[in-house]
Amino acid sequence: MSALRIQEFYNDRVVRQFTVMTVVWGIVGMLVGVYIAAQLYWPSLNFDIPWLSYGRLRPLHTNAVIFAFGGSALIGTSLYVVQRTSHARLISDKLAAFVFWGWQAVIVLAAITLPLGITQSKEYAELEWPIDLLITAVWVSYAVVFFGTIAKRRVKHIYVANWFYGAFIITIALLHIVNNIAIPVGLTKSYPVYSGAVDAMVQWWYGHNAVGFFLTAGFLGMMYYYVPKQVGRPIYSYRLSIVHFWALIAIYMWAGPHHLQYTALPDWAQSLGMVFSLILLAPSWGGAINGVMTLSGAWYKLRTDPIIKFLIVSISFYMMSTFEGPMMSIKTVNSLSHYTDWTIGHVHSGALGWVAMITIGSTYAMLPRLLGLKEMWSVRLVDTHFWIHTIGVVFYIAAMWIAGVMQGLMWRATDDDGTLTYTFVESLKATYPYYLGRFLGGVMILSGMLIMAWNTWKTWQQAASTEPVPVLPPAEPAHA
Ligand code: HEM
Ligand code: HEM
Repeated sequence: MSALRIQEFYNDRVVRQFTVMTVVWGIVGMLVGVYIAAQLYWPSLNFDIPWLSYGRLRPLHTNAVIFAFGGSALIGTSLYVVQRTSHARLISDKLAAFVFWGWQAVIVLAAITLPLGITQSKEYAELEWPIDLLITAVWVSYAVVFFGTIAKRRVKHIYVANWFYGAFIITIALLHIVNNIAIPVGLTKSYPVYSGAVDAMVQWWYGHNAVGFFLTAGFLGMMYYYVPKQVGRPIYSYRLSIVHFWALIAIYMWAGPHHLQYTALPDWAQSLGMVFSLILLAPSWGGAINGVMTLSGAWYKLRTDPIIKFLIVSISFYMMSTFEGPMMSIKTVNSLSHYTDWTIGHVHSGALGWVAMITIGSTYAMLPRLLGLKEMWSVRLVDTHFWIHTIGVVFYIAAMWIAGVMQGLMWRATDDDGTLTYTFVESLKATYPYYLGRFLGGVMILSGMLIMAWNTWKTWQQAASTEPVPVLPPAEPAHA
């Protein structure tokens, strides 16, 4: 039977497309980040032009880095991983192409509408309803391609990376639809059906789970495939990875109210958010330890392979931010950290440390394989990128942590007679040098991305072949 079977090939074309766009959108999103960081230091950089103003470019930054850079990386790698671990080609090339072009169209529409000030004013869900409908169509197609490929797999087992990617796909669909239910009053304006505290609760149920499933679960899928692959060893504990998965899925959903401490939300809901956030520490660290320990017996590779450095340091940042997050959810800590730059430091230790580094590492690991090569054009430049990125991130987050704690302490300081010790402007003045520090960190990180683009370009030029790779024969169980 099998001898008569027509040879199938992986669809790597769509993966290559997403990989290139990951690098492109990474540069664009981080460039906008550096620009708004510069505006906070030199406010006149908005040149009094509305579409260059901070309020409009900030959501452009968040959308570009999360959905364009992160989204392209997640969709691209998931379509690579699902094919390789299922020993099957994607179920439909046309649908896969629609996912690619549709997602790029969403990004371009975001890049046009956000600077024009067209927004729903919901953080991380700013895009107006016609774009939301397009996102839904693309996402459903993505789900069909991904789960359809799993359904036709020729390996009995479903590798754990696919569980994480699958949870990310299903949850984002749910979050996107529920949070964006709105009544349109024109092509570019709508009103959410929720109001008051309910609106806030739905928004942060969305917002937090966007962090939990877009910025975490999907990237854990990446970790579970690319770390063992690059290290050349199986994952440390397969059993732990399953416990990790179910614990994370069960707990994340309840933690959203930690974004709304001391607000009009019922007090019990705030405490619930805090308790679930504290519990979340356990599965987060369990999973991270599983990733890091995959290196046991091969620690020496950390010295020589800069891709492994990217992957392992990203997991360390993941541990750091998932320790910091639960601490910040404690009400008394949150009363100090909320509204300050401490939150921004936490965000970027997760975003630049965890999300960006696991993405960059996985891209460096996958790209040569997509081009029939053994490694990137210059491994030394990968190493340079690693150091410039890591130092840049440390610069960025250290500046924000110091600034944030200082702001919180200055705002709450009172004199003996009960009046505030500092005016707001005094706290702003004290923050100023740290904004310069963050800007410089950002410039380093952006330079690293430009190095990556150069290395990608040169690797592409060297490409031995973009010939289709034959699908592996049926197997059981094949961990990658
Ligand atoms: C060169 C790199 C980057 C720089 C210079 C940068 C800079 C900034 C700045 C200046 C802000 C606004 C802070 C404020 O309003 O006080 C910001 C917000 C934000 N950035 Fe970045 N960023 C970078 C990379 C990234 C990446 C890679 C991600 C995600 C993958 C990310 C996610 C976010 C998020 C989610 C916010 C909103 C935080 C909040 O509302 O609490 N950034 N960034
Ligand atoms: C156990 C895991 C985590 C917990 C319990 C947690 C908890 C928190 C808390 C308490 C805040 C501050 C809310 C406020 O005062 O407004 C926060 C903000 C945030 N965290 Fe985390 N965090 C975790 C992991 C992460 C990771 C890994 C990332 C990114 C990859 C991340 C991204 C964010 C973002 C983007 C915000 C800012 C949201 C906004 O106000 O716009 N978190 N997190």
